Amino acid sequence: MKPKFFLPFFLSGLASFVFFFGGGASAETLLERGTYLERSIVACGNCHTPGSLVGRPDNEREMAGGEKIDEEGFVAYAPNITPDRETGIGNWTDAQIIRAVREGKRPDGTIIGPPMPIWLYRNMSDRDVRAIVAYLRSVKPVRNKAPKSVYNFPLPPAYGPPVKGVPEVSRSDKVRYGEYLAGPIAHCIDCHTPFAKPGVRDVKNRLGAGGFRMVGAWGTNVSSNITPDKETGIGNWSDRQIETAIRKGYSAKYGKMFPPMAYHFYKNIRGADMDALIAYLRSLKPVMNKR
Ligand code: HEC
Ligand code: HEC
Repeated sequence: MKPKFFLPFFLSGLASFVFFFGGGASAETLLERGTYLERSIVACGNCHTPGSLVGRPDNEREMAGGEKIDEEGFVAYAPNITPDRETGIGNWTDAQIIRAVREGKRPDGTIIGPPMPIWLYRNMSDRDVRAIVAYLRSVKPVRNKAPKSVYNFPLPPAYGPPVKGVPEVSRSDKVRYGEYLAGPIAHCIDCHTPFAKPGVRDVKNRLGAGGFRMVGAWGTNVSSNITPDKETGIGNWSDRQIETAIRKGYSAKYGKMFPPMAYHFYKNIRGADMDALIAYLRSLKPVMNKR
């Protein structure tokens, strides 16, 4: 074959190489992206799908809400976020759902209380939050009115200024992308960082150091230290051991793990995302803290 016939094939081959490996995200539709996120790493269903917090999500009633989360100072119930028009969010516009997720504000202006990790969701990219909306619109509408949450403290008037727009985070910097996944996407660092003062995580000094106690339908559990400290964290673990804990809920230190960590969703995390998560965990400052 003469080069002049070969060149177009070469160029189109090059283009698809760039397409797959350079701009991976754009190859997916919003609904495909949302489906992947929801069934793996974002897992809103861990709180919003009945049964999930005890490790047995009722997929027939996906996102139908009603789960009770009983912590110090409040009893919260995850609302129905299916497209049911009366008891769910079927009447909300995309912008209203996005504002609820990233700013913690409902269409009527009221504030969404804890434990939904709004402080992290604020930095979810525009594309990812739109993908999540696309997914929520695709689930079956279920009629279910969740009880009203009770907070024994005043909720803040807002979690910050309005979110103007959040660009995509590049995947070429693994640690930076892993930070995005462990924060605004999976909220790993929400459960794995102890409080500095009520309601505020000690991000500055003890990011990922664990020791946060959680009480709920699953009983009582305390989050582990996932910093690279060799003694009290996971500094001595192999990548495979870290992956097994995240995907299978089996710890090299404590054996079988218990909820509320969403390993029954995390088993579907893609390899590249897992690599980025692990690279990020290894980049954390080692903190000595026994759980
Ligand atoms: C840790 C548990 C938890 C996680 C994770 C979580 N939520 Fe929530 N969510 C709640 C609770 C509890 C409330 C209600 C709080 C209240 O009553 O003020 C809530 C409220 C909401 C509301 C307001 C609904 C209404 O009718 O008032 C929306 C919308 C919502 N969540 C969507 C999401 C989405 C989308 C995700 C994933 C990106 C998510 N949530 C992740 C616990 C959670
Ligand atoms: C809802 C709270 C919650 C979330 C979200 C969460 N975890 Fe966990 N995680 C826990 C708890 C609680 C444990 C202890 C489980 C046990 O031993 O029963 C744990 C244990 C672990 C362990 C095992 C460490 C050890 O020493 O045994 C690793 C690794 C880990 N989590 C990483 C992650 C990563 C990465 C993410 C995000 C993708 C994440 N976790 C999200 C609560 C959470």
